[in-house]
Amino acid sequence: MTASPTDISQQTIHVELGTRSYAILIRRNLLEAIGEELTRLRCTGKVGVVTDRNLAGCYLNQVKRVLKAAGYTVIPIVLPPGERTKTLRSIAMVMDALVEARFERTSTLLALGGGVIGDLTGFAAAIYQRGIPFVQVPTSLVAQVDSSVGGKTGVDHPKGKNLIGAFNQPRVVLIDPATLSTLPPREWKAGLAEVIKYGVIADEGFFEYLEQHIEPILKLDDASVAQIVKRSCEIKALIVSEDERESDRRRILNFGHTIGHALESLGGYCGLIHGEAVAIGMVHEADLARHLGLCGEDVVTRLRALVEAVGLPTGFPPVAFSVLWRAMQQDKKVSAGTVYCVVPERIGSVRIVPLQKDKTRAWFDTIRSRERDLATKRRVR
Ligand SMILES: NC(=O)c1ccc[n+]([C@@H]2O[C@H](COP(=O)([O-])OP(=O)(O)OC[C@H]3O[C@@H](n4cnc5c(N)ncnc54)[C@H](O)[C@@H]3O)[C@@H](O)[C@H]2O)c1
Ligand SMILES: [Zn+2]
Repeated sequence: MTASPTDISQQTIHVELGTRSYAILIRRNLLEAIGEELTRLRCTGKVGVVTDRNLAGCYLNQVKRVLKAAGYTVIPIVLPPGERTKTLRSIAMVMDALVEARFERTSTLLALGGGVIGDLTGFAAAIYQRGIPFVQVPTSLVAQVDSSVGGKTGVDHPKGKNLIGAFNQPRVVLIDPATLSTLPPREWKAGLAEVIKYGVIADEGFFEYLEQHIEPILKLDDASVAQIVKRSCEIKALIVSEDERESDRRRILNFGHTIGHALESLGGYCGLIHGEAVAIGMVHEADLARHLGLCGEDVVTRLRALVEAVGLPTGFPPVAFSVLWRAMQQDKKVSAGTVYCVVPERIGSVRIVPLQKDKTRAWFDTIRSRERDLATKRRVR
């Protein structure tokens, strides 16, 4: 796969979900056209722009200006940045703002931000007056390639991530890749973990593209960024269209997340950010698959090399197996006490397998003994 045939000026991807179908538009400087796009969708009256303080500093004035020019009354709702904002308390604050501004059934909510803002705005839109239209304007890489597409919305509970929520599809997803220029490098790399995930689960050609273009991607080259955002959205859109409510096929999107979510929860959502935990999760779920004889060593080697080339972590944090296993069982995807894991068969194809505790422990012991060997070698040198 090469970047050259891609028309990077404008891309439209359709998420086919019957009456809930919508378009994902990808275009540089699309922020300037938000007003037109909302008008095209026949949004009327008031628009609540939910965002966080970081984004408000960069883009809120521009978005307000553009919406006002298109005739909308804009009500900005600015929340603190970070995962700790993804709570029912923030939802209550959004509800208060909407009631105070006399939002009606036909008013629109617009999520301007990363996955935290997108997830909580989508949920707020699902429950205010039993549902008002909402639009996603994702600004982080995670949000542009993953969270803004697919309609999973919600907030965290102190006992677990994403425990409260609803399926709620947006009316449109408006992606302006130019907003990525202000994204902190750590967040950018974290998003690349989800991009790599799409290559592993669905498209070896895309994985090769990432291997071959990692340098321009890391330098935020326009064509390469447009290509990875587009292909990631295409893959996610297709998988979501096949299984909107995650009864079957959609579960493959959880590659790297069984271990990833467990590590994230052990850090109290604070140590590793989501994409970093997923990076460690992907490499180790592949290594577990190799240990179980489900894939070859080459899969682990290529995946580890790409994750390292991006500058994402691969080392397993110092947790005991019992602690990890308990955290893995708290995952929402556990069914009747059995932990299911998405494992690669090769790059571009995965399957879902139940994990047996004794076999998983035996694999875990191999990582720890490899680490001990490495430490001894370093001491001898
Ligand atoms: N709904 C889904 O299907 C889905 C999928 C993946 C992740 N998620 C959720 O998404 C969240 C993670 O998303 P995230 O990584 O975007 O986190 P985030 O929303 O916290 O954004 C990360 C940080 O980057 C800042 N930021 C975002 N865009 C910026 C920009 N353009 N310029 C400057 N700063 C910017 C934010 O203010 C924040 O500090 C998690 O809560 C996760 O559960 C949901
Ligand atoms: Zn993820």
